[in-house]
Amino acid sequence: MSGTAAPGPGIVLVDRPVPSRLPEAPHGTPGHPLPIVIDCDPGHDDAVAILLALARPDLRVLGISTVAGNAVLERTTETALRVLALAGRADVEVAAGAAHPLEGPLHTAPHVHGESGIEGPALPDPVTAPIGEFAPHAMARWIRAAAEPVVLVPTGPLTNVALLLQEHPEVHDRIAHICLMGGSITEGNITPSAEFNIWVDPEAAQTVFGAGIPLTMIGLDVTHRSIVWEREREALAREGGRVGAVVGGLLAYFQAFHERTYGWAGTPIHDAVAVAHLAMPGLVRTAALDVEIETEGRFTRGRTVVDLRRVTGRTPNAHVGLDIDRERFVALLGEAIRSYA
Ligand code: BDR
Ligand code: CA
Repeated sequence: MSGTAAPGPGIVLVDRPVPSRLPEAPHGTPGHPLPIVIDCDPGHDDAVAILLALARPDLRVLGISTVAGNAVLERTTETALRVLALAGRADVEVAAGAAHPLEGPLHTAPHVHGESGIEGPALPDPVTAPIGEFAPHAMARWIRAAAEPVVLVPTGPLTNVALLLQEHPEVHDRIAHICLMGGSITEGNITPSAEFNIWVDPEAAQTVFGAGIPLTMIGLDVTHRSIVWEREREALAREGGRVGAVVGGLLAYFQAFHERTYGWAGTPIHDAVAVAHLAMPGLVRTAALDVEIETEGRFTRGRTVVDLRRVTGRTPNAHVGLDIDRERFVALLGEAIRSYA
């Protein structure tokens, strides 16, 4: 195994888990797939998350909403359409959403994803256009039309989801769960304290974490342990046909950032872990904990303050990812990508 990232057992809670009434992330089956909405800012890892979700028979993607984050909204929306073209899924609606965070200016991540938000291999041209409906309204419509409560899978800043909750209170009890990539118990990746998705729009994150909807936070503590090593990426590119070749290229570009920054000979695929957690029960070890969003700190704005030792006595509002079975994650991903061939 190449690389040296994150050895050891992940975050360890020494006390016994506290029973919680907070429902855990639900799972579907091929006969009864889980209805999900992906809210994303693609992004290399968002693109892989979308491909993974579309390949899973136990998940049904009701629609994809886009938000500004890794790149400006026009770019993230176009990329979502290109990914659907790659997947051959022109039937999935894409709705463009918020172009800016709830407050303050937009910060993008060209140092990670390149100017377009997804530099690297060429993606096919879009074969569809975004529907002309603002994403939070489209999300509400998808949720209302679903036969059962829906799971939201946010993999970008939480602006669209906050607007959905603020403007469509009637759908709150139709949202079964929010399984998001964002936050961290320990390290940040855009500041020493904060993870990118939460840091871009902390006010939105505060709304989402405070909404009282069952939530799972897949943060950097988990995703930095979900690394696809170089030889695994090469196998994916070799054996995964047309889609595998593109995914291999995306991961090669993403790896370059992680090699420069962390010295890893591989790359995490943050956003795909949020989807994988819905596809594979037990993949991510979680604990029910209280998570508050720092919106004011001079050095800590955008931090997810996780009450790991339960010192506040506050009722947990999130299942927080502590560790992941990396090998199972990589196997799941390989199976999904090969299924397109
Ligand atoms: C998150 O930030 C973005 O760059 C990635 O797409 C992921 O959603 C990781 O911090
Ligand atoms: Ca993302």
